[in-house]
Parts: sequence; C-alpha cells; structure tokens
Amino acid sequence: MPNIVVVGTQWGDEGKGKVVDILAPHVDVVVRYQGGNNAGHTVVVGKEKYVFHSIPSAILHPGRRCVIGCGVVVDPASLIEEMEALVRRGVVLDGNLFISKNAHMIMPYHRALDLAWEAKLGKRRIGTTGRGVGPAYADKAARVGIRMADLLDEPLFKEKLQANIREKNKLLREIYDAQTLTVEEILGPYLRYAGWLAPYITDTALLLARWIEAGQSVLFEGAQGTMLDIDHGTYPFITSSNTTAGGAATGTGVPPTKINGVLGVAKAYTTRVGSGPFPTELRGELADQIRARGNEYGATTGRPRRCGWFDAVVLRYAARINGLDTVALTKLDVLDQCETVKICVGYKYRGEVLSEFPEEERIWTEAEPVYEEMSGWLASTRGLRSYVDLPTKARQYLERLAELAGVELCLVSTGAVREDTIVLDGTPLTGWFPGVRYPIA
Ligand code: IMP
Repeated sequence: MPNIVVVGTQWGDEGKGKVVDILAPHVDVVVRYQGGNNAGHTVVVGKEKYVFHSIPSAILHPGRRCVIGCGVVVDPASLIEEMEALVRRGVVLDGNLFISKNAHMIMPYHRALDLAWEAKLGKRRIGTTGRGVGPAYADKAARVGIRMADLLDEPLFKEKLQANIREKNKLLREIYDAQTLTVEEILGPYLRYAGWLAPYITDTALLLARWIEAGQSVLFEGAQGTMLDIDHGTYPFITSSNTTAGGAATGTGVPPTKINGVLGVAKAYTTRVGSGPFPTELRGELADQIRARGNEYGATTGRPRRCGWFDAVVLRYAARINGLDTVALTKLDVLDQCETVKICVGYKYRGEVLSEFPEEERIWTEAEPVYEEMSGWLASTRGLRSYVDLPTKARQYLERLAELAGVELCLVSTGAVREDTIVLDGTPLTGWFPGVRYPIA
C-alpha cells in the first residue's frame, strides 16, 4: 500500500485539507509532520464546516488513525479545545488519535516571545500567526524545548519549566519590555493537560513502522507550503519548520525509503498571508474580487490573504524541491469571471529574465513578473465533476500551467465540498489509489 506525502506548493492555504479529506478513505493512517496550530485546514462536509489546526482532518473518517508526528509543535490547550469540539460533534478520538512523545510543546512564553519578536521587527515583521510556533522551534533547536513525554514526568517537567521561565522572563523583561510569567501559572494548567492527553501520547514512530510493515497505507499531511519552508522558502518570511516533502521523513520517523510518492497541491491563483515577497501579488479591485470569490481569509487568524496570479516558476520550483509526482489544482472556479487570466513564467530583474526561483531577498523584492496572458473562460466551472465538461479555455489554462511547471495534474477542485472534484484518469494518483474516483466514497 502506498505511503504518499501531500504538500503545499505555494505559500500555504492551497486546499490541502480538502485533498487529504478526499484521499483519507483510501489510506489507513494520516500523519501531520510539521507546523503547529498556526495551520488551519478547512473541510466542508455537507452543511458542516470543520477547521483543523493540529489534528489531521482525516479524523472525520471513522476508523482512520491520525497521528501528530514528532516534527509538529503542539499547543496542548489548543489541541484539547480542538479535541473537545470534535468529541461534541460525535467524532471518536480514542484509538484513532496518537501524539508523538517527541513532539515539542508550545508554551505560554513562546506565544509571548512570538508577539515580542514581531513587535521588535517593526517594518520587517514576518506577520506570524502569533501562536508561538517560531519560538517553540527555536527552543527545540537550542535543546531547551519541552516535549510531550516530559509532560508525563512531573518532576522533569517542573525542572525544565523552571529553567525556561528563568531565562524567558529575563528576555521578556529586559529585552522586550514585555509581561513576565510565573512557573505556577503554567504548571497547574499543564499538569491538567497531561491528564487529558496522556492516553494519546505514545511512540508514534514505532507505531508507524509497525503499521507500514503490516502493509498499511500512510498519508503524510503537510501544513503551510513550500515557499514557507525554513530552508527552501522566502527566508526569513517563512514558518519555522520544513514544510517540504523531506520533512515528512524527519517529522515522523518514517524513513525516506518507505515513502512512495509526493502529491503537490496548488491553487489556480496564488495567495499569501503575512508579510514577505510575493512577486505576482495583485492590488486593487481584481485582488478584492479574487479574495471575495475565493473567501481568502485565514482559517486560523481571519486575516485577509494577499491574492495574485498563478506563478508557474514557483510551481516548477516546488516540483523540484519536493520531487512532485503529480499536482492537485484547487479553486479553479474562483477565476470563472476573469476576462483575462495571467500566468507568471519568469521574473525580470535588472534587464535579465530569470526562469528559476531566485534565492536572494533583493531579487524577490525588485523583480517584476513576466506574464503569459490567456483569455478567461467566463463561464461557471463551480461544481463541475468531469474534465470534459470544463470550458475549453479553462482546460487550456490548466494544461498550460502543467506544461510550464513540468508537472502532471491529477485532480481539479471546483468547489468547497468533497464532491466538487474532478479526478483525472491515468495519473499517479489513480495509480496509487485506484478507488479514488467520483463519486467519492
Ligand atoms: P508562523 O508560522 O506563525 O511563525 O508564521 C510565519 C509565516 O507563516 C507567516 O507569514 C504566516 O502568515 C505564515 N503561515 C503560518 N501558518 C500558515 C498557514 O497555515 N497558512 C498560510 N500561511 C501560514
């Protein structure tokens, strides 16, 4: 049974939640491998809307095991809130949810530092989600982080907490002029969280190895997107983890040799939330129209997303960094009313046209996108479920994107609900999961 990574190819919010939701019935296990509750995956089932931050959305499919891998940073309070909301709606977590002992925790001082760092950056602020994700990963790398396993060992947890509070309070008070925290105000609630979470905290790398050995299929659910990767994204305007496919191995303990393929998810246009370079960004009426039609507001923070044209250079870059086998394209219907659609095919920088995504911040900021223009299809594609029903011009747009990026499309999403999906035949996706065809099981 194949083990497949689902990865965002842009700056996040590509619609990975919906794609994972479609694939979930065809796998046994879904595992998150990075990020924290900065992520927001929206899934619409009938009239019900679910927003996930830390738990894989596959939990909605009865019997699917969902894992929060060691590469994730967990805010226990936010996780418990998410768990309680799911339980209230009848979702069974016991026996279906597993949290890595090695996953690091987001602590209240991480949130305080996140806000303090941002305030200090002024014009160069990252525009983080304010969830404490960056500082939690910074502590992990600095070897002073507190892991889920530590939460179950009260004396060790207390010792680590005291050491951190001493250091963080100094930083908060003396460097950032921010409010300090006490050990007591954290210890009590965190020990209560320990009681709640203990049944779910386990050696998930071992479980995954056993399940894979037994022939079960694992889906790796990426959060954020390639361009927000700490090594391969638009640093420093990134999130603090490896969002790209390589992170799936380190963030779960599943060796790369057990991963069989990578599916990228791209939106038919581009969005970005937070600051940082975005070469194809639109401003004004057209951006507003796309934002309104695509409901482009952050699932976690509610912030309006910046909107722009599709960037084929970015998708080609994502194909290279992630080794994409195929791409699912979402939200085609959002462009239905555009008279013209544009695709970025390169960047003009100081008289030169660059065809590869550059590494330098100066180039991202100064470069002008080079566009190829196509006339829009000006017809509704919303809810279409068969490729041949798409207007010819919409098909031409899709085919050109795929050609420019050098990737093959396997799925086109034409609306928010599960069923508004076109699955293309004869692609890596149908090879991995032959049953993944409309009507979706
Ligand atoms: P952080 O992950 O909260 O540290 O934020 C760092 C950057 O990543 C900011 O630009 C955020 O807007 C962006 N970001 C974090 N999570 C997401 C997400 O799930 N979707 C889109 N952007 C995100």
